[in-house]
Amino acid sequence: MRILVTGAKGMLGRAVATTLQGHHDAVCVDLAEGDLRRADDVARLFDRHRPEWVLHCAAYTDVDGAESARDLAHAVNADATANLAGACDEAGCGLTSVSTDYVFPGDAPDGYHEDDPRRPVNAYGQSKAAGEVAVEAMTAPWQIVRTSWLFGPGPKNFVRTIRRLLAEREILNVVDDQRGSPTYAPDLAAVLAFLAEDGSSGRFHATNAGVCSWYDFAREVARLSGHDPERVQPCRSDAFPTPAKRPACSVLMSSRLEDLGCPPRPHWQDAAARYVAWLDIHEPDPSREER
Ligand SMILES: NC(=O)c1ccc[n+]([C@@H]2O[C@H](COP(=O)([O-])OP(=O)(O)OC[C@H]3O[C@@H](n4cnc5c(N)ncnc54)[C@H](OP(=O)(O)O)[C@@H]3O)[C@@H](O)[C@H]2O)c1
Repeated sequence: MRILVTGAKGMLGRAVATTLQGHHDAVCVDLAEGDLRRADDVARLFDRHRPEWVLHCAAYTDVDGAESARDLAHAVNADATANLAGACDEAGCGLTSVSTDYVFPGDAPDGYHEDDPRRPVNAYGQSKAAGEVAVEAMTAPWQIVRTSWLFGPGPKNFVRTIRRLLAEREILNVVDDQRGSPTYAPDLAAVLAFLAEDGSSGRFHATNAGVCSWYDFAREVARLSGHDPERVQPCRSDAFPTPAKRPACSVLMSSRLEDLGCPPRPHWQDAAARYVAWLDIHEPDPSREER
């Protein structure tokens, strides 16, 4: 298939580009090739590349920044997504649009199913929810794929931050009152490729298996990186006030992918181990103790 990948320079987009290599005719674009907020730019991308499917990974992802840049967040996450949805409808092209656990409020004890009502508690979540609504109005095949706590090769993510802080400080305090499922970008990219090939419309939840707190995740990163996990100590979210409210429970429960026969996602600890092994080769940590 000729697949247009948006946000191809971002964390997920680059993993998707690698996954599609050799399997599909992937056209990878980012802001330099067109600003998706502009319907003209989107039309030009469609004229030039004639995609049969679009994997939409471009987004405004600064959760705290969105509180003071609501218009920008809405323009990128809602208007740009609507532009793509419209172009896909016109071309009869399928669209997979990546979304977030932050469309949910976080008050469910065990997590959220694919059809639970959206009720975002911050501006980023509101902008992503509006993008979802535009996708659901499509006549061409559409997929909304919600994920959470994404990490993987790229300039900024939780695993890299924890490794850097472990090199700088003796004790790290990490919040233990938010629960979710860390998700490795290459594992999510495999699900996106599966879904594009399958072509079924609907909402899907795609994360690595297992649930943890940021504190559990940080301890595992410390352990995998050869540090004493006891250097990571638990604290509550109110110790680190942020502009955007965070859902306490970000768990995305999945049954739709299983119904389609999508292979199970590996456990987040397995994914973290693979990423830390990758980092050890590509970005060795000088402060690491002997293992
Ligand atoms: N990161 C997470 O923890 C997380 C969690 C749940 C869901 N998600 C979702 O997963 C998807 C991928 O996230 P990510 O972390 O890979 O994002 P990312 O690293 O921030 O990459 C997003 C890419 O989109 C590009 N972009 C921004 N505005 C654009 C525009 N108007 N036109 C064209 N391209 C534009 C960005 O370019 P610039 O960098 O030049 O702005 C960037 O290369 C997003 O839908 C996000 O909402 C992420």
